[in-house]
Amino acid sequence: MKLQDARRDQYRRLAHEQGYRSRAAYKLKELNKSYRIIGPGFYVLDLGCAPGGWTQMAVRLAGNRGKVVGVDTSYVEEVPGAHIMRRDIAEEGLADMVISYFGRKANAVVCDLSPKVSGNWSVDHARQISLNYDCAKIMGAVLARRGNAVFKVFDGQYSAEFRDYVREQFSKFHSTKPKASRKQSSELYYVCLGYVGPD
Ligand SMILES: C[S@@+](CC[C@H](N)C(=O)[O-])C[C@H]1O[C@@H](n2cnc3c(N)ncnc32)[C@H](O)[C@@H]1O
Repeated sequence: MKLQDARRDQYRRLAHEQGYRSRAAYKLKELNKSYRIIGPGFYVLDLGCAPGGWTQMAVRLAGNRGKVVGVDTSYVEEVPGAHIMRRDIAEEGLADMVISYFGRKANAVVCDLSPKVSGNWSVDHARQISLNYDCAKIMGAVLARRGNAVFKVFDGQYSAEFRDYVREQFSKFHSTKPKASRKQSSELYYVCLGYVGPD
């Protein structure tokens, strides 16, 4: 077995043993260990949350005093400690619904969106970046000043433009690939810390 396959299996096994719905949960865990995106008591918005691995991890990281909202167009089985909204991220009024649930702005917005993959990389890349612009729009309405964000990015010709667009809205920015992410996949994570947008 190749090292990459062994590593993928290891995260899948861990997810099964520890009750996480996806191995993706470990990407958020690892990113959080390095960058502290979510802390205890944080209000977290998880965009593109199905089947709920990141949502479960966000609930754990935010703890009892935190609140977590997960949004996806797909059905997501209830996640204890989180509020799930079955909606499109581009839907008008979503930001207001989220703020009204939280009762204030969010401390972190985490985005792990993927379009339905067509197999044509340039099409999938363009669609994925377009979803990230939709996320950034909600983020602008929902995130409190000094809040944090993460965006999964299918890396390609439009990534740098999106990177520059989000980077200038934060005081710190990192582009990274967690170990739990497959080596051969072209996904990256943009970690954005300290939102400097309007409150
Ligand atoms: C890779 S999965 C997310 C995995 C999740 N972070 C986890 O840990 O379980 C990407 C998700 O993005 C969702 N998605 C794609 N486009 C969307 C949209 N316009 N609105 C809401 N969700 C969307 C998909 O339905 C899919 O469930």
